[in-house]
Amino acid sequence: MRNTQQHYGWISIIIHWLVALTVFGLFGLGFWMVDLTYYDSWYQTGPALHESIGITLLTLMVFRVIWRLIETQPEKLKTHTPLEQKSGHLMHIVLYVGLFLIMLSGYLISTADGRGITVFDLFDVPGLGSFIEGQEDLAGLFHEYAAYFIIAMAILHALAALKHHFIDKDKTLTRMLGKRD
Ligand code: HEM
Repeated sequence: MRNTQQHYGWISIIIHWLVALTVFGLFGLGFWMVDLTYYDSWYQTGPALHESIGITLLTLMVFRVIWRLIETQPEKLKTHTPLEQKSGHLMHIVLYVGLFLIMLSGYLISTADGRGITVFDLFDVPGLGSFIEGQEDLAGLFHEYAAYFIIAMAILHALAALKHHFIDKDKTLTRMLGKRD
């Protein structure tokens, strides 16, 4: 379950892939739902689902950050060059910070009119209303560009993992898939 100096434990692995799946899923849902019209049956369900999954992702990310801070981190692989180690670390920071910023902007869009966010019809996250002029539009613009940016970064990050797997033939990807040697 726990990380060791050589391996990622199942908790880190499951969170990593769950977040990855959720981020790509939210991107697809968001991209599709913005073109829905009032007469589509998903006009309200789409955004409600997007918001509910977004709040769930936020909870998962808060847990992930805490878990990362208290857990042993597997050692850097010797097959990574110093440049790869630095750029990999920077990319992880960009992904973490990017995800928190996109979730914050999503909250600012949804709650700009003072209403809260209903999460899967189970409970409400309170809304704090608007803090700045044109909040919904500004946060919306940020949210859109941040989504493209994060997806581009996630693709780059995935390509780097595939390069390590197929070209360098090292353990970068397999240890995030739980393979022990
Ligand atoms: C939106 C999608 C993704 C996000 C946000 C994300 C984020 C991260 C983060 C923050 C780490 C650092 C380890 C940690 O703190 O837990 C990491 C590690 C890793 N990710 Fe992702 N990831 C995503 C998608 C992917 C995909 C699609 C792949 C592979 C095809 C992948 C492969 C890996 C690997 C192999 C590591 C381990 C790197 C190492 O040990 O040096 N990730 N990811």
